[in-house]
Amino acid sequence: MEIIKVANAEEGGKKAFELIKEGMNNGAKVLGLATGSTPETLYKEMTTSNLDFTEMTSVNLDEYVGLGGDDDQSYRYFMNDQLFNKKPFKDTYVPNGKAADLAAECKHYESIIDSNPIDIQILGIGQNGHIGFNEPGTPLDSLTHVVELTESTINANKRNFEKVEDVPTRAVSMGIGSIMKGKKMILMAYGEAKADAIKGMIDGPVSVDLPASALQNHSDVVVIVDEAAASKL
Ligand code: F6R
Repeated sequence: MEIIKVANAEEGGKKAFELIKEGMNNGAKVLGLATGSTPETLYKEMTTSNLDFTEMTSVNLDEYVGLGGDDDQSYRYFMNDQLFNKKPFKDTYVPNGKAADLAAECKHYESIIDSNPIDIQILGIGQNGHIGFNEPGTPLDSLTHVVELTESTINANKRNFEKVEDVPTRAVSMGIGSIMKGKKMILMAYGEAKADAIKGMIDGPVSVDLPASALQNHSDVVVIVDEAAASKL
């Protein structure tokens, strides 16, 4: 893994943007994208740049079960608001959290990943080491699946909802195996709350106890961290 230390999230967003630009210059056509607060500075760089994304495809990591794209808590809404409404892409994929048959949706989403191989996968990391919504205990070869969210993830995400009871308890997420299919990984983490997860991901054993540790088995991973997130390395 290549570790890049930055002063803050703004600088991290700029760094990640440079890597995406370089990837696109080298022919990258498909971006794997994440939601949450971590990639916001990257999306700001993208939307304020003069880079053209109209030939690009995006595939998002996850979506809450039960929320549709017009629900402002949904990840589809977040992506439209933060990025796609400002920088149009050719195609944008986010799992359908309102699918009547969730098992069929998971299969369908995995086929989307296979027909649009991800050149650059953007990742954040949870305090418990999750990537996507793959909580500790998720098999490292898992494909797109329905996830029961842990209490710690529900608590971490409640800031975006009026009350904790409003946070969905399930999500559709790319599996760790689906994420690992991507050619290049860019994982960003900012703040002290991520320090343990970053330490375990880089220096700990590869284990289902810390899902991001699976990235040790990937040949092209760039980790962008601020001082606080890197403080336990
Ligand atoms: C979001 C996702 C999650 C987040 C993680 C960190 O699509 O896949 O794994 O990256 O929960 O969230 P933030 O960035 O809000 O700290």
